[in-house]
Amino acid sequence: MVIGASGQIGVELTLALRKIYGPANVIASDLREENELLHGTGPYVSLDVMNREMLHVQVIRQGFTQIYLLAAILSATGEKNPGLAWHLNMQGLLNVLDIAREEKLNKIYWPSSIAVFGPSSPKQNCPQQTIIEPITVYGISKYAGEFWCNYYYQKFGVDVRSLRYPGLISYKSAPGGGTTDYAIEIFHEALGDKHYDCFLEENTYLPMMYMPDAIRATIELMEAPRENIKTRTSYNLSAMSFSPREITEEIKKHIPDFTVDYNPDYRQGIANSWPQSIDDSKAREDWGWKHEYDLSSMTADMIQNLKR
Ligand SMILES: NC(=O)c1ccc[n+]([C@@H]2O[C@H](COP(=O)([O-])OP(=O)(O)OC[C@H]3O[C@@H](n4cnc5c(N)ncnc54)[C@H](O)[C@@H]3O)[C@@H](O)[C@H]2O)c1
Repeated sequence: MVIGASGQIGVELTLALRKIYGPANVIASDLREENELLHGTGPYVSLDVMNREMLHVQVIRQGFTQIYLLAAILSATGEKNPGLAWHLNMQGLLNVLDIAREEKLNKIYWPSSIAVFGPSSPKQNCPQQTIIEPITVYGISKYAGEFWCNYYYQKFGVDVRSLRYPGLISYKSAPGGGTTDYAIEIFHEALGDKHYDCFLEENTYLPMMYMPDAIRATIELMEAPRENIKTRTSYNLSAMSFSPREITEEIKKHIPDFTVDYNPDYRQGIANSWPQSIDDSKAREDWGWKHEYDLSSMTADMIQNLKR
């Protein structure tokens, strides 16, 4: 079961899981209506992860064995409604972990984020274990969530696995209100008006990843033997790091007359609090993570697909 299947990651993860396990064996669910990219590709259930009883009934009735929990409020949206972000990000996770424990589900996936890191964390090659003092409600909720995952694994044996995703770039479904959303909007504007007003400063470096790599990382983590998963909070995960200026230069190789203005807003403060690059050597050692896309191959693929 994929909860939050109509979102930016959910759509692509659901489609990838259906390819592997068969359409009927992967149930998509979301609070909002089924994303049109999922129409006709397999079963869909309308569901609020906050409604623990309904979720429990669905798990028993449909005999789910694994849950991918993607429903959350992201960094930028979370700062506008901190109470709701904390409530959904925490209670949604606790509902799933409790049901997993009671029903002895095989595996749970729950994503964390680079947003767990704060201004006191190292900016370059930020390690797996370091000072972690998040300053956004989103980051606080993700860090607390990581320890709940670890707790349910240590105490009750729930096989819950997690990745600290960097900013994810994709062309299929729209982003959900994160600080790295500029790196998606910029492609749409480059191909449309050929001009983009960027909400971050031009030299703001952030860790990023192309969606095909993120989906593959998620599935590889979930398919790895249990004994290989040594980090039970959440794994650092990395592919590339770039600034708005660098991605603009890369896009200009394909669209030479593209221009960008920089008008930073409140999201600049969030971006400044995060590391610029991530050390993911633990993921590489423990379960063989290897990224494929860099800035140039990702840009070429984004433009080709968005044009289509
Ligand atoms: N996209 C990124 O760059 C990124 C980076 C780091 C971590 N993450 C994490 O990955 C996960 C998925 O992110 P996303 O970008 O796909 O987010 P998104 O906002 O695009 O999708 C989340 C989905 O959850 C659904 N949802 C919200 N409340 C719900 C509820 N009560 N019950 C059921 N569904 C509900 C929404 O309708 C939405 O379709 C989140 O946990 C997010 O924190 C994402």
